Amino acid sequence: MAASKKTGGLAGVTAGETHICTVGKEGAGLTYRGYDIYDLADNACFEEVAHLLVHGTLPTQAELDSYVAKIKSLRGLPAALRTVLEMVPGDAHPMDMLRTGVSFLGNIEPEGDFSNQTDVADRLLACLPSMLLYWHRFHTDGVRIETETDDDSVSGHFLHMLHDKAPKELHRKCLDTTLILYAEHEFNASTFTGRVITGTLSDMYSAVSGAIGALRGPLHGGANEAAMELISTFDTPEEATAGVQEMLERRDLIMGFGHRVYTTSDPRNVVNKKMSQQLADDVGNTTLFPISEAVEKVMWDEKKLFANADFFTASVYHFMGIPTHLFTPIFVCSRITGWAAHVMEQRADNKLIRPAADYIGPDLQQWVAIEDRA
Ligand code: COA
Repeated sequence: MAASKKTGGLAGVTAGETHICTVGKEGAGLTYRGYDIYDLADNACFEEVAHLLVHGTLPTQAELDSYVAKIKSLRGLPAALRTVLEMVPGDAHPMDMLRTGVSFLGNIEPEGDFSNQTDVADRLLACLPSMLLYWHRFHTDGVRIETETDDDSVSGHFLHMLHDKAPKELHRKCLDTTLILYAEHEFNASTFTGRVITGTLSDMYSAVSGAIGALRGPLHGGANEAAMELISTFDTPEEATAGVQEMLERRDLIMGFGHRVYTTSDPRNVVNKKMSQQLADDVGNTTLFPISEAVEKVMWDEKKLFANADFFTASVYHFMGIPTHLFTPIFVCSRITGWAAHVMEQRADNKLIRPAADYIGPDLQQWVAIEDRA
C-alpha cells in the first residue's frame, strides 16, 4: 500500500522532547544521554550503558558491581513462565515467543503502581535472554536449561546458554558491543509504539510487548535476519554484485540499507563492519565478509544507500554461531534498556499521545436500509 505523500510516515515530524538520545545531530552521530556512541562502544560494557539508560547515570565501580549482581539475581524464570515457553511451538518466530513471554510475565509479576518501574526494567533486562534461550534450547535440543549462570555479563550469559559452555572472550566482547550499539535510538518505530502505550498510563509490560511487535517487522529490527538471508544466497562477491543489481532493477528492497533519519551513513556501521571482519578472520571464513562488502559497494554506487546497523550485525552474529532467527530477539535483549528509559521519561511528563488525521474518505452518505442495498 502506497504511503500518502502528505503524511509520509511522519518523516521529519517532531513528536516530543527527550533527554535520552540524539540521532544524526550535526557533529554527534549518535549519543546516549550526551555520551558519544563511539566512546561507549570503545570503553563501556553493556551493563554500564544499561545503567546509563535505565538509571540515568554512568555507574561508579561500586554501583556497577551492585547492578551486575542485581541483574544476575533476576535471571530465573518462574515455573509458570517456563511452562508457557514450552507450549509456544518450536517453529514459532522467537519474536512472537518473546512478545508472549513478556506479556505473560506481566500477569504473574504485575507492575502495580509505577513506584517500582526501574525494578521491572531490570527484571526484563535480566530475564529476556533467559526466556529466549530456555525456549530455544527446549525446542531445539530437548533440554530444560538452567538460566541462572555464573556469567557476569548479559552477553556471556546469552552465549553460555546458547552453546552450553562459557564463550570465547572475543565473541562475548563483540556481542556486548552490538548490545551497546542497539540499546537506544530515539523515537524509532518500536520506542514510539512503547511511548504511545505508556501515554495511556498503561504498564511497562504492555509497552514492551507492543514495542516487540513493532520491532519484529523487516523494515525495523527484522532487517538483520533478512540481511543474513540475502548474503547467504551468494557464493562470491561477483555474484552478490550482479544479484543485488538485478534486485534493484526489480525495485526490491535490500534489507539492512537505508535509514529514515541518517542521510549519508549510520554511525554504528563502522563498528559493526570492523567486528565482522575481525570475526571472519577469527573463524577463517573468507567469503561472507567480501560478499557483504560487495553488497555495500553496489548499494552505494547504484543508489547512494548505506549499510545501517543491521547489515554487518548479521554476519557478526553468524560468525559466532548464533542461528539467524535469534538475531532480532537479541535486539530486544538490548533495546529493552532504551524502551524502559522512554517509558519512564514519558511517565515523568505524561500527555496522552493522540494525533489527528486528515480525512480523505467519502462525503456524508445517505443511510440505506439493508434490504435496499445493491
Ligand atoms: N533498498 C532499496 N531501495 C531503498 C532502500 C533499500 N533498503 N531503502 C530506501 N530505498 C529507496 C526507496 O525505494 C525509495 O525509492 P523511490 O524514491 O524511488 O521510491 C527511496 O529509497 C527512499 O526510501 P523511503 O522508503 O522513502 O525511505 P524511508 O525513510 O521511508 O525508509 C527504511 C527508511 C529504513 C524503512 C528503508 O530505507 C528500508 O526499507 N530499508 C530496508 C529495511 C531496513 O534495513 N530497516 C532497518 C532500518 S535501521
